Amino acid sequence: MASPLGALSAMLLLLVVALAKNCEATAMHSAIHAVRRHGHKLKPIKQNKSNFKSGPWRKAHATFYGGGTDSFGGACGYKDVVQQGYTLNTAAISDVLFKKGKGCGGCFELKCVNSPKWCKKGSLFVTATNLCPSNPSLPGKEHFDIAQPVFNKIADYIAGIIPIQYRRVPCNKKGGIRFTIMGNPWFNQVIVWNVGGAGDVVSLQVKGNDNVKWTKLERDWGVTWKTSTHLVGESLTFRVTTSDGRELTSWHVAPKNWQFGQTYEGKNFK
Ligand SMILES: *[C@@H]1O[C@H](CO)[C@@H](O)[C@H](O)[C@H]1NC(C)=O
Repeated sequence: MASPLGALSAMLLLLVVALAKNCEATAMHSAIHAVRRHGHKLKPIKQNKSNFKSGPWRKAHATFYGGGTDSFGGACGYKDVVQQGYTLNTAAISDVLFKKGKGCGGCFELKCVNSPKWCKKGSLFVTATNLCPSNPSLPGKEHFDIAQPVFNKIADYIAGIIPIQYRRVPCNKKGGIRFTIMGNPWFNQVIVWNVGGAGDVVSLQVKGNDNVKWTKLERDWGVTWKTSTHLVGESLTFRVTTSDGRELTSWHVAPKNWQFGQTYEGKNFK
């Protein structure tokens, strides 16, 4: 028989494990449920001529999570954040920031505050590439779960959870905006990635060179958009609108003989 003391320490251990468990384990499932509803209609947005500017500093908390580079883009639908140029400077964001996938691709500057023991100087720039579902054991609603390898740029790992300040910043991406076309002739999916400027896409439209007139795609999940319009055999032009109301049109970015599984590159937002 285990001693009462042994049982007690086992219970304490379980409690610690339960509290320390951060949110990535359930990220995929919640995201899939959150986005498997029909896309709602977007209000028309006026074209914004000015470049995206950094927003005000706000309060939040941050933790870190581990995993392979293919897991950091989970709920947003990025395949491999490192291969796709996001590096490991990525974060899973809580529901209020994730906004059912609309927050994917947004860029943030984070700094550790009010914790002299753990905070390091300087700040960290991350792109939102995943969902961190609400966790009652975490204080506040705004939360960043940072990819482990970069968390220690702003604080000591041992801290576990840290108070931070964050603000939206323009996304500086190398190279052009990318469109990866997936699916089949009856169900096209377009993944929009490496988006500069505001970084978070609110609307995607496609136009063919022949039969396909301007057609709105619906958000499938994260940065994946869908349409059942027949696109095969036409050159494709994509028009992307970001959350600041800016539009970018990539004329004939996919040639007539475009293929499923291929990625096409247009010019980027500045
Ligand atoms: C246009 O962009 C600027 C700079 O980011 C921003 O301050 C402003 O709110 C945007 N306007 C709209 C209508 O989104």
